[in-house]
Amino acid sequence: MPIIESVASKFKELFRETPLLVRSPGRVNLIGEHTDYNDGYVLPAAIDEAMYFAIAPNGGNECRVHALNLNAEHRFTIGHANHSDKRWPNYLMGVVEQFNNAGYRVGGFNCVFGGDIPIGAGMSSSAALETGLAFALDRLFALKVDALALVKLAQKAENEFVGVECGIMDQYINIFGKRGNALRIDCRTLESELVSFHHPAAIVLFDAGVSHSLAGSGYNKRRVECSAGVAAVKQKHPAVTHLRDVSIAMLSGCKGLMDATVYRRSKYVVEENDRVFAACAALARNDLTAFGALLYASHEGLSREYEVSCAELDVLVDVVREMPGVYGARMMGGGFGGCTINLIQPDAVELVSTAVRKQYAKKFGREPKVYVTSISDGTSIVVP
Ligand code: GLA
Repeated sequence: MPIIESVASKFKELFRETPLLVRSPGRVNLIGEHTDYNDGYVLPAAIDEAMYFAIAPNGGNECRVHALNLNAEHRFTIGHANHSDKRWPNYLMGVVEQFNNAGYRVGGFNCVFGGDIPIGAGMSSSAALETGLAFALDRLFALKVDALALVKLAQKAENEFVGVECGIMDQYINIFGKRGNALRIDCRTLESELVSFHHPAAIVLFDAGVSHSLAGSGYNKRRVECSAGVAAVKQKHPAVTHLRDVSIAMLSGCKGLMDATVYRRSKYVVEENDRVFAACAALARNDLTAFGALLYASHEGLSREYEVSCAELDVLVDVVREMPGVYGARMMGGGFGGCTINLIQPDAVELVSTAVRKQYAKKFGREPKVYVTSISDGTSIVVP
């Protein structure tokens, strides 16, 4: 049974009424990693894998949420949500609390959700939860919050309630994603441009199966290191507020003003920002070979300079490097686990996936999960 039907039928079984149905996608990021919180550029796309919500108001102040995949339930009262050790309820409670704090009249609701975005694979299941619920509540209670404000509210829920200082990329693409297109987002102005992706290449994700917890990882630490880079450059260039404002020449000129780690982190970010533009140019001229080379370069930087990769992800990139039909690969998302994104000629996908499964299993004793995904629309209401 399609997931949306399982979610809807569980809702009817539990609550005996007709819910609003919402689909909220996961995302890939083609290139531009760890640039969003540096006011830089990113190139993500919404994907087929998604979280589905069935939801209806219950007239009270209590929210009852059922996680179909986990067969678990959580209840909380609006205005009195406490952190849960189960973790998943925090993404939802954070959103409700943000609406409430901002003065929006959100009432109690019953909700069942479930989906096929793997957890901890770097495909943004958390943003799908937050942003999907924000969208659903907006429609359910006719709040009429504009789309960008919903994005920011969902991001704030993660920053303040979950405690991860994530940037805006995941929530943004979740709402604004368009089928067949990536979006080049300027994370300073929050404007974006559609980048058509109708190339003869499959987007394939190899999931290392190492679960990362952004909150427990070095994610927040990287943000601090980037701020240290900005503070150093600012001594010579007072107008600089983010690494987005820094060129490689400016950074080299300030090398003596920061420690070696901060320099490496900053250098990665400055170069990755440039790679986003080079990648868009390569796509515009249908040069997938050049695009793929930029993916490999991004991975090098993430692994050696930004140091957010891990042995499993490095192996996944290394093993595809010489395989025929592979344009490029890199780790994707926050890092410290999750998956790699690979651009592969469609007729080579099967051979490459089989070879990767084998070689990875030889090294780590288990096979990576493989997702051949395609680019979908952002969050929307599902008409049954
Ligand atoms: C996570 C965060 C994003 C972004 C990426 C790294 O997915 O939620 O805001 O920083 O990591 O590019």
